[in-house]
Amino acid sequence: MTTSVTAVETTEEQAHFDALIEADLRIEPRDWMPEAYRKTLIRQISQHAHSEIIGMQPEANWITRAPSLKRKAILMAKVQDEAGHGLYLYSAAQTLGITREEMNMQLIEGRARYSSIFNYHTPTWADMGAIGWLVDGAAICNQVPLCRASYGPYGRAMVRICKEESFHQRQGFEILLELAQGTPEQKQMAQEAVDRWYWPALMMFGPSDDASPNSARSMAWKIKRFSNDELRQRFVGMCVPQFEALGLECPDKDLRFDEETGQWIMGEIDWSEFEAVLDGRGPANTERLKRRREAHDSGAWVREAATAYARKQAEARLAA
Ligand code: 3HC
Repeated sequence: MTTSVTAVETTEEQAHFDALIEADLRIEPRDWMPEAYRKTLIRQISQHAHSEIIGMQPEANWITRAPSLKRKAILMAKVQDEAGHGLYLYSAAQTLGITREEMNMQLIEGRARYSSIFNYHTPTWADMGAIGWLVDGAAICNQVPLCRASYGPYGRAMVRICKEESFHQRQGFEILLELAQGTPEQKQMAQEAVDRWYWPALMMFGPSDDASPNSARSMAWKIKRFSNDELRQRFVGMCVPQFEALGLECPDKDLRFDEETGQWIMGEIDWSEFEAVLDGRGPANTERLKRRREAHDSGAWVREAATAYARKQAEARLAA
């Protein structure tokens, strides 16, 4: 008897969930949701949060070497923004029933993914420009549709994140523009940085649609609104006029405009490189995780102090 009541309830709850998705309304933490939807969201949101946190490393690397006080202040603000994005996203994931500590352990024990893009090195100042322009540009392309994700806390977090990413993208473009209009050596440095980051930025959108196991279901649930290939295509189209404005060459020598479809057709992406990075064999995978573990260990006293302070405050409130 109990089983059948539960079954009826679940069917009704499922129907209510389906109706909310169909009507383009939001699912909130208080709402019933299928377990697979919850798990998918935890996976995507926590991976996204980890990407923001690991993503601080390649840029923080340049804070002490930024070429002027103004550039240093801007870079520090940007790196702080990324920390903030990580925090909004961890908070959004927590509403799904996973703890921050659990997510953090998944990251530092190498059980969780973070974006492939942050496993590349940043050997010159121009890499700060290329990251801002291409990486944050790709992030905006991928993330603006996520502002309409069906899960309320995720969509709302993305609105603020996208506003800040938009500033990040412009600052990157401006760094490259200044270099591209500088001495021949500076222009070459800008070109080399763009050559380094262009293809990895295209890989950020994930595997092609026919190799993406999660896309179809995530799109049916309206978590993702566009496929990986659709967003990658949109990004390439955005980059073309910006390459021209910068006076830099697109590293894709096979890129061509197809009059019939009105789209840019890109050259072949080296998916073996993407797979290697996902498998932990990218240029900087090992050092990124090592650094994160060290930061976790050296921050233990801060967590302990904050916990002790919170306990004291709670005791004082009870005693009052
Ligand atoms: N890096 C690492 N892993 C990736 C990846 C990438 N660029 N692209 C795909 N993958 C992984 C997926 O996580 C999935 O692995 P899993 O099943 O073990 O979790 C597998 O490859 C197959 O990919 P799918 O296309 O099936 O996976 P999704 O449907 O989840 O799509 C995604 C992948 C497009 C990255 C999607 O998860 C997404 O849109 N995530 C939110 C955005 C995000 O996380 N961006 C990361 C960059 S953040 C950033 O750039 C910060 C900014 O400050 C610059």
